[in-house]
Amino acid sequence: MIDVKNVKKIYQGKVPTPALQGVSFTVADSEFVALTGRSGSGKSTLLHQLGLLDTPTSGAISIHKTDILALSDTQKTYFRLSFLGYVFQEYALMAEFTALENVLLPAMALGDLDDKSRTRAQELLSIVGLEDRMEYYPNELSGGQQQRVAIARALINRPKILFADEPTANLDTASSKIVLDIFMRLNREEKLTIIMVTHEPEYAKLAHRTIELLDGMIIKDTKAKK
Ligand SMILES: Nc1ncnc2c1ncn2[C@@H]1O[C@H](COP(=O)(O)OP(=O)(O)OP(=O)(O)O)[C@@H](O)[C@H]1O
Ligand SMILES: [Mg+2]
Repeated sequence: MIDVKNVKKIYQGKVPTPALQGVSFTVADSEFVALTGRSGSGKSTLLHQLGLLDTPTSGAISIHKTDILALSDTQKTYFRLSFLGYVFQEYALMAEFTALENVLLPAMALGDLDDKSRTRAQELLSIVGLEDRMEYYPNELSGGQQQRVAIARALINRPKILFADEPTANLDTASSKIVLDIFMRLNREEKLTIIMVTHEPEYAKLAHRTIELLDGMIIKDTKAKK
């Protein structure tokens, strides 16, 4: 479970920007949550706080009963690599590595590079439909294919939670559908908890629940009728 209590984030620039103004909610295991709201409402900021990529100005976040704000930097890195997966709008693959090598990078970071992780990376690339592209470099892949490599990379260490920030923003409709189908299947079959930022109401509808932000506050939290 993810438990967020009164999280605030004020960016300290020339002018302090309150990006999150006291956000509280919980997410149950295996839930698929869509995070929506207009540009600048704080969606990416919230995802960064939940994903241990940034530290809130105040408030509390616990993930699977771990107070993540109390962890040291080394513990945070281990926690991220072991329990969390990330997919971003710009796929952020390493240009000098093949698809297969990119998928293996988080396993390598955990010291888990062995035959088992290699087999798993191949399986994951097959699940996302890229069994014939494993040895391709990112610049030899389409946007949709790169995003699918990024999904496989996010899953290599068997995370419990997947964070996705507008994962379909750079994709055409067909590629977006493939990505969303993969998410729905992982959620259903692997019980993966997913928090996905999206601007598309049509895609938000595929989630169990939609949380809408405005000016760094939750203004709506609706469960899908199913
Ligand atoms: N590093 C930063 N320094 C200062 N202000 C920032 C920083 N990152 C974001 N902000 C501000 O925080 C607010 C929330 O930004 P955030 O990126 O979370 O919005 P968003 O909902 O993800 O928007 P979008 O849909 O455009 O991606 C914005 O007003 C933005 O200008
Ligand atoms: Mg954003």
